[in-house]
Amino acid sequence: MKVVAVINHKGGVGKTTLTANLGAGFAARGQKVLLVDLDGQASLTISFFTQSEWTADLLPEKTIKHWFDRIGSDNAESPAKLVSTPPRVQDKLARGTGRLDLIAAHRDLTDVETNLAAELLSAPGRFGELHGSLRGMLAHDDFADYDTVLIDCAPNFGLIAKNAVAASDLLLIPTKPDYLSTNGIDSLGLKIRSFVEEYNEHSEVPVERPAASVVFTMVQNQNGAPIEAQRSVISRIEAREVPTFATTIRDSKAVYGPAPEHGVPVILGGTGRAATRELRDMVSELSGRLERIAP
Ligand SMILES: Nc1ncnc2c1ncn2[C@@H]1O[C@H](COP(=O)(O)OP(=O)(O)OP(=O)(O)O)[C@@H](O)[C@H]1O
Ligand SMILES: [Mg+2]
Repeated sequence: MKVVAVINHKGGVGKTTLTANLGAGFAARGQKVLLVDLDGQASLTISFFTQSEWTADLLPEKTIKHWFDRIGSDNAESPAKLVSTPPRVQDKLARGTGRLDLIAAHRDLTDVETNLAAELLSAPGRFGELHGSLRGMLAHDDFADYDTVLIDCAPNFGLIAKNAVAASDLLLIPTKPDYLSTNGIDSLGLKIRSFVEEYNEHSEVPVERPAASVVFTMVQNQNGAPIEAQRSVISRIEAREVPTFATTIRDSKAVYGPAPEHGVPVILGGTGRAATRELRDMVSELSGRLERIAP
């Protein structure tokens, strides 16, 4: 099993859209995929479930909040109970062998974040336990059959996002190719580095700092290449030897805007041929990267 966190403390850069599409893309190739929605905005969850399905069938127990709420208790409950299967995607995948599952978000995840931070303040010795909880959950036997786990993070670098870093083999950093968006990459890199060092000081079982790679999103193409302003930003990032994906994700409000409402990501939806091709290339490129990471 390989775990990928889609992370950027900057908001609105396409994290959730990419998570949904990559997950569906891996499942369409026959993989068993688990998505985890760590954002209280619940955009990933409601890209797959209607509001009423979420409210009636998933809340409150089939959410990641239920897991974090039980940190420190005798948590004997099986984490498989947190998992839901989005029905419309499952219909689309019915003829293949792949599967897409999701652990939903809860609107009150920000309260969870505040509570866990307070617990850490009163008991700094619990650093490893509080930051390693998601890692522990994904290592459970219940999840042994999944090939790939994709974690959608909220736009911050709080305790919950740090749980995602500690659990991951690879960090995918969606970034818009503009000055303000790329400005945050270095600070995110430094935060990740210092968090992993701190985690390893506190934890009996150290983790490797996950590899991290930028993927450019909302790219405006002209004659088959990014427009000049964006191309120069992309080149500047590459020149700084920040790892990047060769595939870029085009800007297309018309294609990406309506998909969540239908509960089926673009890559499975049959709209936007160029966008779909690009997403498939991204699945292939990510798949190649993951294969090169030792199990
Ligand atoms: N490639 C794209 N082209 C055009 N619009 C896009 C693209 N990707 C995402 N969007 C749109 O941009 C908005 C933000 O996307 P998304 O929710 O995926 O970003 P995010 O980084 O997860 O945001 P947040 O930080 O709030 O979680 C959404 O309305 C989405 O439909
Ligand atoms: Mg999001």
